[in-house]
Amino acid sequence: MSNILAISAGLSQPSSTRLLTDRLAAAARGEPGAETTVEVVELREHAHDITDNLLTGFANQRLRPVLEQLEAADGLILVSPTFSASYSGLFKSFMDLVEPESVHDKPVLLGATGGTERHSLVLEHALRPLLAYLRAQVVPTAVYAASSDWGNDSDLNQRITRAAGELASAVQRQPAQRKDDPFANPVPFEQLLQETATN
Ligand SMILES: Cc1cc2nc3c(=O)[nH]c(=O)nc-3n(C[C@H](O)[C@H](O)[C@H](O)COP(=O)(O)O)c2cc1C
Repeated sequence: MSNILAISAGLSQPSSTRLLTDRLAAAARGEPGAETTVEVVELREHAHDITDNLLTGFANQRLRPVLEQLEAADGLILVSPTFSASYSGLFKSFMDLVEPESVHDKPVLLGATGGTERHSLVLEHALRPLLAYLRAQVVPTAVYAASSDWGNDSDLNQRITRAAGELASAVQRQPAQRKDDPFANPVPFEQLLQETATN
Protein backbone atom coordinates (compact mmCIF):
# COMPACT_ATOMS: atom_id res chain seq x y z
CA MET A 1 0.00 0.00 0.00
CA SER A 2 1.46 3.34 -1.00
CA ASN A 3 0.35 6.80 -0.07
CA ILE A 4 0.36 9.90 -2.22
CA LEU A 5 -0.09 13.45 -1.00
CA ALA A 6 -1.72 15.86 -3.44
CA ILE A 7 -1.23 19.58 -2.83
CA SER A 8 -3.37 22.27 -4.42
CA ALA A 9 -2.22 25.89 -4.27
CA GLY A 10 -5.46 27.30 -5.73
CA LEU A 11 -6.85 30.45 -4.16
CA SER A 12 -10.36 30.76 -5.57
CA GLN A 13 -13.45 29.05 -4.23
CA PRO A 14 -14.38 27.00 -6.16
CA SER A 15 -10.86 26.50 -7.45
CA SER A 16 -9.91 25.12 -10.86
CA THR A 17 -6.53 24.13 -9.35
CA ARG A 18 -8.34 22.08 -6.75
CA LEU A 19 -10.46 20.55 -9.51
CA LEU A 20 -7.37 19.52 -11.46
CA THR A 21 -5.77 18.20 -8.24
CA ASP A 22 -8.87 16.09 -7.52
CA ARG A 23 -8.85 14.71 -11.07
CA LEU A 24 -5.18 13.78 -10.81
CA ALA A 25 -5.77 12.27 -7.36
CA ALA A 26 -8.69 10.19 -8.59
CA ALA A 27 -6.66 8.93 -11.56
CA ALA A 28 -3.75 7.97 -9.29
CA ARG A 29 -6.13 6.13 -6.94
CA GLY A 30 -7.70 4.27 -9.83
CA GLU A 31 -4.47 3.02 -11.39
CA PRO A 32 -4.83 -0.75 -11.95
CA GLY A 33 -2.71 -2.84 -9.60
CA ALA A 34 -1.88 0.14 -7.45
CA GLU A 35 -3.19 -0.01 -3.90
CA THR A 36 -2.88 3.66 -3.26
CA THR A 37 -4.36 6.16 -0.88
CA VAL A 38 -4.31 9.77 -2.00
CA GLU A 39 -4.98 12.65 0.35
CA VAL A 40 -5.54 16.20 -0.89
CA VAL A 41 -4.36 19.29 1.01
CA GLU A 42 -5.37 22.83 0.02
CA LEU A 43 -2.63 25.34 0.81
CA ARG A 44 -5.27 28.09 0.94
CA GLU A 45 -6.32 26.72 4.34
CA HIS A 46 -2.72 27.07 5.56
CA ALA A 47 -1.87 30.45 4.00
CA HIS A 48 -1.55 32.19 7.39
CA ASP A 49 0.38 29.24 8.86
CA ILE A 50 2.82 29.35 5.94
CA THR A 51 3.43 33.09 6.46
CA ASP A 52 3.90 32.54 10.21
CA ASN A 53 6.46 29.83 9.50
CA LEU A 54 8.35 32.10 7.09
CA LEU A 55 8.43 34.84 9.76
CA THR A 56 9.21 32.72 12.82
CA GLY A 57 11.14 29.78 11.39
CA PHE A 58 8.75 27.29 13.02
CA ALA A 59 5.81 25.31 11.66
CA ASN A 60 2.77 25.61 13.94
CA GLN A 61 0.57 22.69 14.96
CA ARG A 62 -1.65 23.04 11.89
CA LEU A 63 1.15 23.19 9.34
CA ARG A 64 3.56 20.68 10.92
CA PRO A 65 1.36 17.63 10.12
CA VAL A 66 1.24 18.71 6.45
CA LEU A 67 5.04 18.91 6.24
CA GLU A 68 5.30 15.53 8.03
CA GLN A 69 2.75 14.01 5.67
CA LEU A 70 4.73 15.31 2.72
CA GLU A 71 7.91 13.78 4.09
CA ALA A 72 6.22 10.41 4.73
CA ALA A 73 4.45 10.25 1.34
CA ASP A 74 5.58 7.75 -1.29
CA GLY A 75 4.74 10.24 -4.03
CA LEU A 76 3.44 13.77 -4.51
CA ILE A 77 1.03 15.58 -6.80
CA LEU A 78 1.82 19.31 -6.79
CA VAL A 79 -0.56 21.70 -8.55
CA SER A 80 -0.26 25.49 -8.76
CA PRO A 81 -2.27 28.16 -10.52
CA THR A 82 -0.28 30.25 -13.01
CA PHE A 83 0.29 33.76 -11.70
CA SER A 84 2.27 36.21 -13.83
CA ALA A 85 3.57 33.35 -15.99
CA SER A 86 4.96 31.40 -13.01
CA TYR A 87 3.83 29.38 -9.99
CA SER A 88 1.83 31.30 -7.38
CA GLY A 89 3.46 33.02 -4.42
CA LEU A 90 1.61 30.72 -2.01
CA PHE A 91 2.96 27.64 -3.78
CA LYS A 92 6.54 28.96 -3.71
CA SER A 93 6.26 30.06 -0.07
CA PHE A 94 5.14 26.55 0.88
CA MET A 95 7.92 24.93 -1.15
CA ASP A 96 10.41 27.22 0.62
CA LEU A 97 9.40 25.51 3.88
CA VAL A 98 9.91 21.97 2.58
CA GLU A 99 13.19 20.36 3.63
CA PRO A 100 14.97 19.33 0.42
CA GLU A 101 15.56 15.84 1.92
CA SER A 102 11.76 15.39 2.18
CA VAL A 103 11.41 15.34 -1.59
CA HIS A 104 14.84 14.04 -2.62
CA ASP A 105 14.25 11.13 -5.07
CA LYS A 106 10.50 11.23 -4.41
CA PRO A 107 8.23 10.66 -7.44
CA VAL A 108 6.33 13.87 -8.21
CA LEU A 109 3.57 14.66 -10.69
CA LEU A 110 3.30 18.36 -11.58
CA GLY A 111 0.17 20.22 -12.60
CA ALA A 112 -0.82 23.82 -13.26
CA THR A 113 -3.94 25.74 -14.18
CA GLY A 114 -4.09 29.03 -16.06
CA GLY A 115 -6.35 31.43 -17.85
CA THR A 116 -4.58 30.94 -21.16
CA GLU A 117 -3.16 27.84 -22.85
CA ARG A 118 -0.28 30.04 -24.05
CA HIS A 119 1.26 29.78 -20.57
CA SER A 120 1.33 25.98 -20.42
CA LEU A 121 5.15 26.00 -20.47
CA VAL A 122 5.01 27.34 -16.92
CA LEU A 123 5.30 23.66 -16.01
CA GLU A 124 8.62 23.37 -17.81
CA HIS A 125 10.26 26.71 -17.07
CA ALA A 126 9.05 27.25 -13.47
CA LEU A 127 7.74 24.13 -11.70
CA ARG A 128 10.05 21.49 -13.13
CA PRO A 129 13.29 23.46 -12.43
CA LEU A 130 12.16 24.06 -8.83
CA LEU A 131 11.62 20.34 -8.28
CA ALA A 132 14.88 19.56 -10.11
CA TYR A 133 16.67 21.83 -7.65
CA LEU A 134 15.07 19.81 -4.82
CA ARG A 135 16.24 16.64 -6.63
CA ALA A 136 12.75 15.14 -6.82
CA GLN A 137 11.99 12.49 -9.40
CA VAL A 138 9.48 14.35 -11.59
CA VAL A 139 7.49 12.14 -13.97
CA PRO A 140 7.74 13.08 -17.68
CA THR A 141 4.09 14.08 -18.22
CA ALA A 142 3.01 17.26 -16.43
CA VAL A 143 -0.60 18.42 -16.78
CA TYR A 144 -1.68 21.97 -17.59
CA ALA A 145 -5.36 22.91 -17.67
CA ALA A 146 -6.33 26.25 -19.21
CA SER A 147 -9.85 27.63 -18.78
CA SER A 148 -10.72 26.37 -22.31
CA ASP A 149 -9.76 22.77 -21.36
CA TRP A 150 -12.60 22.40 -18.89
CA GLY A 151 -15.35 22.51 -21.51
CA ASN A 152 -13.55 20.07 -23.79
CA ASP A 153 -12.11 17.40 -21.56
CA SER A 154 -11.00 14.54 -23.76
CA ASP A 155 -7.40 15.73 -24.29
CA LEU A 156 -7.15 16.72 -20.65
CA ASN A 157 -8.43 13.30 -19.57
CA GLN A 158 -5.80 11.56 -21.67
CA ARG A 159 -3.01 13.67 -20.16
CA ILE A 160 -4.32 13.08 -16.63
CA THR A 161 -4.48 9.31 -17.18
CA ARG A 162 -0.99 9.16 -18.69
CA ALA A 163 0.54 11.32 -15.93
CA ALA A 164 -1.16 9.30 -13.16
CA GLY A 165 0.10 6.07 -14.73
CA GLU A 166 3.65 7.42 -14.78
CA LEU A 167 3.36 8.47 -11.13
CA ALA A 168 1.98 5.07 -10.07
CA SER A 169 4.83 3.26 -11.87
CA ALA A 170 7.45 5.54 -10.32
CA VAL A 171 5.98 5.01 -6.82
CA GLN A 172 5.90 1.23 -7.30
CA ARG A 173 9.52 1.23 -8.46
CA GLN A 174 10.62 3.36 -5.57
CA PRO A 175 8.71 3.11 -2.29
CA ALA A 176 9.63 5.96 0.09
CA GLN A 177 12.79 5.50 2.08
CA ARG A 178 11.59 6.10 5.57
CA LYS A 179 13.83 8.14 7.81
CA ASP A 180 14.91 6.40 11.04
CA ASP A 181 13.25 7.82 14.12
CA PRO A 182 16.17 9.15 16.20
CA PHE A 183 14.18 8.50 19.40
CA ALA A 184 13.08 4.93 18.54
CA ASN A 185 16.04 3.08 20.19
CA PRO A 186 17.63 5.37 22.72
CA VAL A 187 20.86 4.26 24.46
CA PRO A 188 19.89 3.58 28.11
CA PHE A 189 21.02 6.31 30.46
CA GLU A 190 22.91 3.76 32.66
CA GLN A 191 24.95 2.67 29.64
CA LEU A 192 25.80 6.27 28.80
CA LEU A 193 26.95 6.81 32.41
CA GLN A 194 29.07 3.64 32.35
CA GLU A 195 30.70 4.69 29.08
CA THR A 196 31.48 8.12 30.55
CA ALA A 197 32.93 6.50 33.69
CA THR A 198 35.22 4.13 31.76
CA ASN A 199 36.55 6.86 29.41
C1 LIG B 1 -2.83 37.57 -9.94
C2 LIG B 1 -3.15 36.64 -11.07
C3 LIG B 1 -2.25 36.44 -12.08
C4 LIG B 1 -2.55 35.55 -13.12
N1 LIG B 1 -1.62 35.38 -14.12
C5 LIG B 1 -1.87 34.47 -15.10
C6 LIG B 1 -0.90 34.24 -16.12
O1 LIG B 1 0.15 34.84 -16.17
N2 LIG B 1 -1.19 33.31 -17.06
C7 LIG B 1 -2.37 32.60 -17.07
O2 LIG B 1 -2.57 31.77 -17.94
N3 LIG B 1 -3.31 32.82 -16.11
C8 LIG B 1 -3.08 33.73 -15.13
N4 LIG B 1 -4.01 33.94 -14.15
C9 LIG B 1 -5.26 33.14 -14.15
C10 LIG B 1 -5.14 31.97 -13.18
O3 LIG B 1 -3.98 31.22 -13.38
C11 LIG B 1 -6.31 30.99 -13.37
O4 LIG B 1 -7.50 31.69 -13.25
C12 LIG B 1 -6.23 29.87 -12.38
O5 LIG B 1 -6.89 28.76 -12.91
C13 LIG B 1 -6.84 30.21 -11.03
O6 LIG B 1 -6.79 29.08 -10.20
P1 LIG B 1 -7.84 28.88 -8.99
O7 LIG B 1 -9.22 28.86 -9.61
O8 LIG B 1 -7.47 27.55 -8.43
O9 LIG B 1 -7.62 30.00 -8.02
C14 LIG B 1 -3.76 34.85 -13.13
C15 LIG B 1 -4.69 35.07 -12.08
C16 LIG B 1 -4.39 35.94 -11.07
C17 LIG B 1 -5.39 36.14 -9.96
